[in-house]
Amino acid sequence: MKLKSKDLLGIAGLTKEEVEAIFRVTADFKEKKRTDKPLSGKTLAMIFEKPSTRTRVSFECAIYQLGGMPVVLNSTEIQLSRGETIADTARVLSGYVDAITIRTFEHRKVVELASNASVPVINALSDFEHPCQALADLYTIYEKKGFSGIKVAYVGDGDNNVTNSLVFICALMGIPLSVASPEGYRPKKEVIETAKKLNANTQLEVTSDPKEAVRNADVIYTDVWVSMGAEAEAAKRKKDLKAYQLNTELLAASGKKDYLIMHCLPAHRGDEITDEVMESKNSVVFEQAENRMHVQKAVLYFLLGGKDAI
Ligand code: CP
Ligand code: NVA
Repeated sequence: MKLKSKDLLGIAGLTKEEVEAIFRVTADFKEKKRTDKPLSGKTLAMIFEKPSTRTRVSFECAIYQLGGMPVVLNSTEIQLSRGETIADTARVLSGYVDAITIRTFEHRKVVELASNASVPVINALSDFEHPCQALADLYTIYEKKGFSGIKVAYVGDGDNNVTNSLVFICALMGIPLSVASPEGYRPKKEVIETAKKLNANTQLEVTSDPKEAVRNADVIYTDVWVSMGAEAEAAKRKKDLKAYQLNTELLAASGKKDYLIMHCLPAHRGDEITDEVMESKNSVVFEQAENRMHVQKAVLYFLLGGKDAI
C-alpha cells in the first residue's frame, strides 16, 4: 500500500484506511516483528524554526534505526534565515535528501515547501496541525483501550495545532470527542467544517464546561495554555484558561476510574495539569511520547517507499 499523498501535511489529508495501515506497521516496528533496515541509505532533512525535544529526537532515532540518516537544520543556521525562499530551499534539498520534515509557524510554509519539493514533506508541527502527534496519540489509545465505544475529552486551549489534529483524527476514526474551552479558545469554524467533511457523522461536542467534557470519558487530554509563538499573550492565556486545569477535582467528575491521562508534552506542571495528575497511575504521557518514534517509523516507511509499502 502507498499513501495517496506524497506528503504528510496534516491529518486532514489522510484516510481512515491509511491511518489503520500506519498503525499496523507501527505495531510491527514497536513489537520488533521487523528488525530489517528498510530505509537503508535514505536521508531525512529536518528543518526547525521552533524548539523541539520529542519530535527531533524521535525522528532522528526512527530514521537511524530504519537504516537511514537524519540531517538536522536549525533555521537560524541555514540560508532560510537570510532570505532564501522556502521554494528554493525545497528544490535544493530535494537534490540531496529523500524526505524533509519542517517545524514552523504558518502552515502555508509547510504547504509551500511540499509543493516545491520533489521528495516527501512531513509536517513536524505548524500553528495549524501536528499530525505526527495525533497519530501517536491515537496509536496509544488504540494500544490501551481499542477504539470501540470510547469517548475522548480534551480540556484547555481548543484552538491550537494539537487540538486541530486531534479533532481531525477522532473524526476520521469515528471516535466521539468532547472539547472544553472558554470563549476565544474553541476550535475554529473551519476546523469543525473540515472534521464534518472527514466524517459526516462525526461526534464532536464543544462546551465551556470541563466537567461536562470529562463525564464518562475514557481518555482525558490536555496541551499547554501558551503554545510556541504565543508567549506575548502568556499572562492573559493563563488567566483565561485557569478553570481548565486537569486536577483531581475535575477528574472526579469523569465517573470512571480507568481513564487515560494524555498530554503531548512539554507540560507546564501547575498550569494545564497538576503534578499529581501527571504522576498518577492513569497517566500515559511518557508511553505516548515514546510512541512518537514508533509511529514516525511507519510514516517514514510509507512515504519513503519501504519495499513492501508499495
Ligand atoms: N510533543 C512535541 O511535539 O514535543 P516537542 O516540542 O518536544 O517536539
Ligand atoms: N501546542 C503546542 C504543542 C507543543 C508540542 C505548541 O504549539 O507549542
